[in-house]
Amino acid sequence: MYFSEEIIAEVQQKNDIVDVISQYVHLQKKGSNYTCCCPFHNEKTPSFSVNQARQIYKCFGCGEGGSVITFLQKYENMTFPEAIKFLAERAGVALPEETNSKANRARENRRARLLEVNKEAAKYYYYILRSSRGDVGMDYLERRGLTEETRNQFGLGYATVSGNDIVAYLKSKGFKDEEIRDSGLASFSEQKGLSSKFWNRVMFPIQDSNHRVIGFGGRVMGEGEPKYLNSPETEIFDKSRNLYGLNFARTSRKKNFILCEGYMDVIALHQAGFNQAVASLGTAFTSGQANLLRRYTTDVLLAYDSDGAGTKAAIRAIQILRETGLYSKVINMKPYKDPDEFIKNLGAEEFQKRIDEAENSFLFRVRIAEQNYDMQDADGRTRFYKEVAGMLSEFADEIERENYLTAVANQYGVSRDGLREQVVKSAMRGEVKALQRPQSAMGADKARADDSKLKPQQLLLTWLAEEPELYSRIKPYITAEDFTDELYKPVAKRFLADLEVGNANPALLISLIEDPEEQSKISALFTTRLDGIETKEERQKALHDILMKVKTNSYEYYKAQSGTDIDAMRKMIEGKKALQELAKTHIFLE
Ligand code: GTP
Ligand code: MN
Repeated sequence: MYFSEEIIAEVQQKNDIVDVISQYVHLQKKGSNYTCCCPFHNEKTPSFSVNQARQIYKCFGCGEGGSVITFLQKYENMTFPEAIKFLAERAGVALPEETNSKANRARENRRARLLEVNKEAAKYYYYILRSSRGDVGMDYLERRGLTEETRNQFGLGYATVSGNDIVAYLKSKGFKDEEIRDSGLASFSEQKGLSSKFWNRVMFPIQDSNHRVIGFGGRVMGEGEPKYLNSPETEIFDKSRNLYGLNFARTSRKKNFILCEGYMDVIALHQAGFNQAVASLGTAFTSGQANLLRRYTTDVLLAYDSDGAGTKAAIRAIQILRETGLYSKVINMKPYKDPDEFIKNLGAEEFQKRIDEAENSFLFRVRIAEQNYDMQDADGRTRFYKEVAGMLSEFADEIERENYLTAVANQYGVSRDGLREQVVKSAMRGEVKALQRPQSAMGADKARADDSKLKPQQLLLTWLAEEPELYSRIKPYITAEDFTDELYKPVAKRFLADLEVGNANPALLISLIEDPEEQSKISALFTTRLDGIETKEERQKALHDILMKVKTNSYEYYKAQSGTDIDAMRKMIEGKKALQELAKTHIFLE
C-alpha cells in the first residue's frame, strides 16, 4: 500500500513518540531526553533514549533507533502499513480511501473475516473447556499439570465429542458457510454440509506475534490418530512464518530463545518461567521462522526431543539457524524425552542447569556423527575424522574454523595438524569452497573501515538536526554529494533541502523509509552522540573537524572514481577547492 508523505507526516505529528513508547516501557525524564532500559536488548543500565524534540529514539547500547513508526515495526512486529494504520487510528487521523485495487480490498476483507472466525472459535472452545461439557479436556490438562493461569494465558479450549456444535455457533454469529470452511475449522460436503474438523480434542489456539488467533492445534484425548491435528494453511495461517508462543516470548527480554518441538513443551516451559520458549507448528522448522527469530535474538537454544527423530530435526534446525546468522546450542534433555517431561520430573532449576550447560551445536553434530562409526576400528575412526573435516570445511571464517578444529582435536585426542590437513583435502575436493579468502572476515574489516568514514557524516547531520540554524554557516562547504553512503545520500539531499527552506523534520525522513533496518541506520544520522563539546571554542573546532573529515572522505571517494567517470572528476575538483577553502577558514559560532 502507498501512503503519501503528507499522511505519514500527519500521522507522526499526531502521535508523540514519548506517549507511544511510554505505553510499552517505563520512560524517565532525564535532561531533555527520556530514557529506560532498552526493550530490544538485555541490559541493566538504561542506554535507550527518546528525544521528544526530534521525535526519534535511539539505543546507545545496541544501536537500534528510529521514529515512532520504526518502534512499532520492531517492537510490535508490525509491517510499515500496519504501523501507519495503527497510529492513524490511535490519533483519529482518517486515512484516505485506499488507492488499492478492488482485488486487494477484497483480500483484506477476507483476511479480516477469517481472523474474526478464528477469534470467535477460540472464544467458544475456551468457554466449552470451562463448562461441564469440557470435563474430559479439563481433567486431561490438570493431569498434565497445567495451572489455571497457564490454561488461561494460552487460551486453551476444548472441542466436544460431537464437534459440530462449533459450526452451529459460528453460523449463529453470522459467518457464512464459505467463511467457516475457508477458516479450516470445518470441511464441506454436498451430503452433510459443514462438518467440524476438530472433535474430542484439547484446542491450542495458535496466535501470531500480535496475539491474533490464526489457527488451531488440537490434541486428541486418549490414543486416537493423529495425535495432533492442526488447522490447514489458510490466507491468514502460514505455518512457515509463525511460531507457537512467539507472542509471549518476544517480550520475554531473555538473552536467548528456546526452540522446541511441541505445543505442550512451550506451555510447560512458560509455566516454569522460561517464557522465551517457542515451537514450530507441527511442521519442520523453516528459514522463515529463523528470520522471525532473528528480529529478537542472536542466540537460540534447541530443546528438541531426545530421540532419533528429534536429533535429526535438531540437526536440520541448526543448519537453518546458522544460514540465518543465528548462534545455536543444544539442551540435553536426557533421560527424558522432551522439556515438558523433563520439567515435570526434575523441575525448573534442573532445567536452568541444562540451559547453562547447553552444548555447542557444532560439537553436538560431531558427537552425533561419531555414533555412526565404529570408533574401536581404525577404519571407522578414519572415516569419522574425514566426515568431521568435511564439516569443519564448511566454516568460511578462518578464526572460527581454527577454534572448532582445536576443540575437536582436543576432545577426540587427534593431532590438530593431521585434522587440518584433512580439512584442506576436503575443501580441495571441492566439497565446499571454504578455504578461499574468508569472506565474512573481509566483510567485517570493510564494515569497520566504512564506519569511520560514516561517523563524521552522522555527526554532521545530528548537529544540524539539533541546531538547524547552523546550516547557513556550513552551506558554502557542504553538498548532499558529500554523503557517500548510498543510503545516506538521498536522505542528506532531502534534509539539506528542508534546511534550506527552514523546515527540517528528521523523524519524517526516517519514516519515509519502509525497511526497519534501514530506518535504524538512517536514525544514526540524526542521533549520534556529540560528546565532550562544551565551550564555544570546542564547538567551533569540532564543527571544523567534522566538516574537514566529511569533505576529505568525499574528495577521496570521488578521486577513486574519477579515472572512469567525468562526473566524479568534476566532483573531485570541486571537492578539492572547497576543502582548501575550508582548511583556511575559521568557523565562528555565536
Ligand atoms: P504430548 O504427547 O501431548 O506431550 O505431545 P508432545 O508435545 O510430546 O508431542 P510430540 O513430540 O509427539 O509432537 C510434537 C509436536 O509435533 C506437536 O506439538 C505437534 O505440533 C506435532 N505433532 C505431533 N503429532 C502430530 C501428528 O500426528 N500430526 C501433525 N500434523 N503434527 C503432529
Ligand atoms: Mn510430550
